[in-house]
Amino acid sequence: MQAEQRGSVAGRVLVITGAAGRIGSFYRQHLREQGAVGDGAAQWRLRLVDVRAPEGVRPEDEVLAGAEAGNLADLDVARRAVAGAHSVLHLAADPSPRADFYASLLDRNIKATYNVLHAAAEAGVRRVVFASSVNAIGGYPKDVQVRAEDVAWPGNVYGASKAWGEAVCGAFVAQSEGKLSAIAVRIGGVTSRERISSGRQQGWHAIAVTYDDLSQLFDRCLNGAPDVTFAVVNGISANRFLRMDLESTRRRLGYRPNDDAFAIAEAQGT
Ligand SMILES: NC(=O)c1ccc[n+]([C@@H]2O[C@H](COP(=O)([O-])OP(=O)(O)OC[C@H]3O[C@@H](n4cnc5c(N)ncnc54)[C@H](O)[C@@H]3O)[C@@H](O)[C@H]2O)c1
Repeated sequence: MQAEQRGSVAGRVLVITGAAGRIGSFYRQHLREQGAVGDGAAQWRLRLVDVRAPEGVRPEDEVLAGAEAGNLADLDVARRAVAGAHSVLHLAADPSPRADFYASLLDRNIKATYNVLHAAAEAGVRRVVFASSVNAIGGYPKDVQVRAEDVAWPGNVYGASKAWGEAVCGAFVAQSEGKLSAIAVRIGGVTSRERISSGRQQGWHAIAVTYDDLSQLFDRCLNGAPDVTFAVVNGISANRFLRMDLESTRRRLGYRPNDDAFAIAEAQGT
């Protein structure tokens, strides 16, 4: 028993889909820096899923990658991806607001998301965190602050694919009779602090979320809020003007963003 424990990795399996992507790579690094993944007593054991090979893989990470082996548009791949997992951070998608429906969104955002939720409910996964987008509410007038409770009103078909993802999260949670919980995060424009500049349009600052704030929010979604069964929350930084309000994200998840894109831009004077 002891020998088994010494050589093995403790922790629950956290599946990160789209792990080779921008946010997936950053969040993996964040988890490492927090000591939340790795050998011994670490909280999570990572399983990385992507059609591309993720960089910076550690020996203790499981990897399911490749054009076929990691393609979540295939239900069997999604089943292998989530087998035995405790939680799933579902990032895999085409993140472009201009993505074509038949050429890309249908497989990457619609089928893949359906498959992940279907497989997660079937496998007894406890929580799925779904990367929705500010594009799911992009149809509201620009001077309206959108609450998380407001119905989706996408401004483009990519946003509609994210609204579908939110809905499919809700559907599988409802059917799972309390076993599966899901949190869909309407993520704003993800950026490092260094890339924030006053040269940007004001509207951009109002939807910005820094990697650090987003990582804190993912941590809250994955570690906290045991009473949340299903929620759609807004995920942006503590910007002076907020395109989406943060009241329910703060209240339900204990999210405490530290960055204000307007203040950072002013301080940088660029
Ligand atoms: N970057 C942002 O500003 C932003 C804002 C709002 C929401 N989001 C959402 O966050 C998520 C991650 O965004 P990102 O910026 O890291 O994007 P990214 O393109 O860098 O990463 C997405 C990853 O998903 C993978 N992928 C796509 N289809 C797949 C499939 N069928 N099976 C397996 N893997 C697949 C891609 O290979 C890629 O590595 C996406 O769902 C995106 O829509 C991003």
